Amino acid sequence: MKIVSQIKEPIRPEMEHFETKFRNAMTSKVALFNRITHYIVNRKGKQMRPMFVFLTAKMLNNGLVNERTYRGASVIELIHTATLVHDDVVDDSNKRRGFFSVNALWKNKIAVLVGDYLLSKGLLLSIDHGDFDLLRIISVAVREMSEGELLQIEKARNLDITEAIYYDIIRQKTATLIAACCSLGACSVKPDTPEVETFRKFGELCGMAFQIKDDLFDYGSRAIGKPTGIDIKEQKMTLPLIYVLNSCSKDEKKWLINSIKNHNKDKIRVREVIAFVKANGGLDYAVEKMLKYKNEALQLLKEYPDSDYKRSLELMVNYVVDRKK
Ligand code: IPE
Ligand code: IPE
Ligand code: MG
Ligand code: MG
Repeated sequence: MKIVSQIKEPIRPEMEHFETKFRNAMTSKVALFNRITHYIVNRKGKQMRPMFVFLTAKMLNNGLVNERTYRGASVIELIHTATLVHDDVVDDSNKRRGFFSVNALWKNKIAVLVGDYLLSKGLLLSIDHGDFDLLRIISVAVREMSEGELLQIEKARNLDITEAIYYDIIRQKTATLIAACCSLGACSVKPDTPEVETFRKFGELCGMAFQIKDDLFDYGSRAIGKPTGIDIKEQKMTLPLIYVLNSCSKDEKKWLINSIKNHNKDKIRVREVIAFVKANGGLDYAVEKMLKYKNEALQLLKEYPDSDYKRSLELMVNYVVDRKK
């Protein structure tokens, strides 16, 4: 069986039910919104965030979820979708999930509004049902994601990013939302228990590994449904490059910085930078750090009793670092 089907097996009914709810949560009275949200839901992503929500909830609650769990999963996927629509505007990216991005088809103005619309639909879903404990978890994640994306832009301007700042950025822009998935999954079935914090941490570790993997994809040339090689073009400095900048000679560093600062739109030069990073162990270093986060996440699961859900969560952690897109 394919690894994803294997992971989903113990949450199959929940994922099916979720899909209907998620679709319904997106509808609008405005015809143009409906056209665009249809376009979006028909190109589904990996749905890893709802999977994290359901697996955590079921593992902690003897295989039972409730309506709060479903709403939580929908809210998170709505917010995730909103941030992707905005992120493609910010990154000037024309491809998402193997098709044109919203900004590529409808332009930035509309993409900004669609992102805001999806975000508000998500928050209202929680408010309308009085899920205020879940709303707090989600709102913290939303704030952190904007801060993370902004910090990344700030650092791209000065090209003065350190490894520590890189971890801050990815913790904020990506890991907090996956942390929210797991703490919300826990909170939906076991509010006010220490599990809410344990699983926040677990999700955060998975999220760190997840973004390092995403940044590694950008150094590859495999078809992953979105452009590769655009991070340097956008002056986004990620772990492989940061490591190499800190370990190469002064002259090489000068060449690298100059390439990123002044030749970032020059395809041949960008290719040379990528080759340099690869030849100098940048990818190996990032893989090593990614696996460190993965192992820390697996370690946290060790103290829980065995179950189908726990096995799926373990597979999920491995999938974060082994996935092909
Ligand atoms: C992409 O997330 C955005 C990042 C945080 C790297 P996913 O890779 O989970 O996107 P989809 O939902 O599967 O398309
Ligand atoms: C993820 O960063 C940012 C989000 C929080 C959406 P990226 O900009 O690397 O994500 P992709 O590669 O466009 O999916
Ligand atoms: Mg992007
Ligand atoms: Mg990326």
